[in-house]
Amino acid sequence: MSYLRIGLLLLIAVWLLVSCKEKNTATKQTAMQNKTWWKEAVVYQIYPRSFKDSDGDGIGDIKGIISKLDYIQSLGIDAVWLNPIYESPNKDNGYDISDYRNVSKQFGSMNDFDTLLAGFHQRGIKVFMDLVVNHCSNEHPWFKEASKSRNSPYYNYFHWWPAEKGEPPYRFSIFDEKGYGWEFNKATNSYYLHYFGDFQPDLNWENPKLRQEVYDIMKFWSKKGIDGFRMDALAFIAKDTTWPALPPEYNGVWVMYYASGPHLHDYIQEMNKEVLTPYKLATVAEAMGDVPRVKKFVDEDRNELNMAYNFEAIDFGYLPNEYKMPDPQGWDLVKWKQIYKRWDSAFTEKGWGTVYLANHDQPRMVTRWGNDAPEFRELSSKMLSTFILTMRGTAFYYFGDEIGMNNIKFDKVEDYNDVELHTNYAQVKAKGGDLKRFLEGMKISSRDNGRTPMQWDSTSGAGFTLGNPWLKINPNYTTVNVAAAEANQNSALHYFRKLTTLRKANEALQYGAFTLVDADNPDVFAYTRTLNNKTFLILLNFKNKTATLKTGMDLSKGKTLLNNYGSTNASETLQPYEASVIEF
Ligand code: GLC
Repeated sequence: MSYLRIGLLLLIAVWLLVSCKEKNTATKQTAMQNKTWWKEAVVYQIYPRSFKDSDGDGIGDIKGIISKLDYIQSLGIDAVWLNPIYESPNKDNGYDISDYRNVSKQFGSMNDFDTLLAGFHQRGIKVFMDLVVNHCSNEHPWFKEASKSRNSPYYNYFHWWPAEKGEPPYRFSIFDEKGYGWEFNKATNSYYLHYFGDFQPDLNWENPKLRQEVYDIMKFWSKKGIDGFRMDALAFIAKDTTWPALPPEYNGVWVMYYASGPHLHDYIQEMNKEVLTPYKLATVAEAMGDVPRVKKFVDEDRNELNMAYNFEAIDFGYLPNEYKMPDPQGWDLVKWKQIYKRWDSAFTEKGWGTVYLANHDQPRMVTRWGNDAPEFRELSSKMLSTFILTMRGTAFYYFGDEIGMNNIKFDKVEDYNDVELHTNYAQVKAKGGDLKRFLEGMKISSRDNGRTPMQWDSTSGAGFTLGNPWLKINPNYTTVNVAAAEANQNSALHYFRKLTTLRKANEALQYGAFTLVDADNPDVFAYTRTLNNKTFLILLNFKNKTATLKTGMDLSKGKTLLNNYGSTNASETLQPYEASVIEF
């Protein structure tokens, strides 16, 4: 080989090396590039109805939240998401809004709200409001007017099927006993569409006037200074108004079908231009669908939204073709890990995800994903909190989980308040199904388990109310409550505060790359979070027995920063529900 050739080869090699290095740096930069507060945030969700009642009517209210502002701040969270506080007949607890510009009288006044917002901001806490605009209440003036006559200026705010055309094309409804999404209205001789309850008529986003109304509502709250919106059922707003028959490939999977109306992303881009960008709002969407669909909402280049939920992990472990019926075989951790891996990699380059294990539509996380037996409740609750706060994605944390509240597990259907539960119960009953089996399943999965009042102390009413609570309080409030947790240095509450501090202090826990470790291990969810030269190894035993794993790392070089057993020795053998955060 001539010297010239060798020289040329060397040159090419050097060029390759340099360009690879540049590429690496570029990938690293992508993760860090667009740093924003909402990517780093821990968002604490407050279900106002169940948080704190200030006036003894048994229903939580805004003044109640105000009285707990210092507690909320003490958690070390960065933002709160308030479930709907607007005027509502409350058939779906505020997700059926009759006045978007007023606070529900049950919750207080606009003055109270302004005080609350100021109180959060004084404490450096941002506020997400719930935006429910796929539908409103049938008691909203728009619908009251629209349902009087086809000539009403509000008729086109909704979706109608004129009865002279015969039966409307089948659409499913989630809160309808017959599972039928059209309801006949005599005065207009037409059917209106409702994807949810018949008291929740769907708004017609195809009508530009309606869209302007929505943007005006958003501006109204934005001018008050709120920081963002959590967008309810947003993936469903756009519809194909030629009303084609449901395509066979969506057989039964109505969520997918409803989630992709033809102009969905045009509307969100319009909303972004009109409201989100001018008011610098952060957004998180209930964005049902698979990875490619959900990515479209949050790809920065598309100027739509910021964060999206993934439903795949939270809906895991239920029997097919039955609503939220837990699989008696339990759920497979290895498959669950793969779901997180898939959703994490969806957002490595563009977009941003969320991590959550509970909210007002879910049971308590410790019952569903951990173990609420007395010996494991606190341990597994700490383990799950460790998971939420060390994953990549904005952490959404549900009130009460910081003290390890667990499912109440009602025996009787009468104890439930929730429209979803009652609809599904009626459906099972109508089909002559096994009601006992249904109620057993709901002890694990029903939404009301996550809606029982906050347990503040051991006095009667759990420090939540002096009156009759709107939903029964979990009888374990006498021992599981904030006051007891404050007094015990080893409580889940103090552990949670350590977690928020740890996450805040370490960019690697916010932005660092996520890599599964010992991915096929059936008991342990282990992963690393790496940024620049820092690596965190997180070990979580999801089982009620001792478990071992192979990390392939020299654990003696690591420093245990947090462990729910208080252990400081990093080990590949983990106690039941043990959680460790190890720094390298
Ligand atoms: C969303 C809400 C849920 C509500 C439904 C209808 O899924 O989170 O609570 O029942 O929308 O608005």
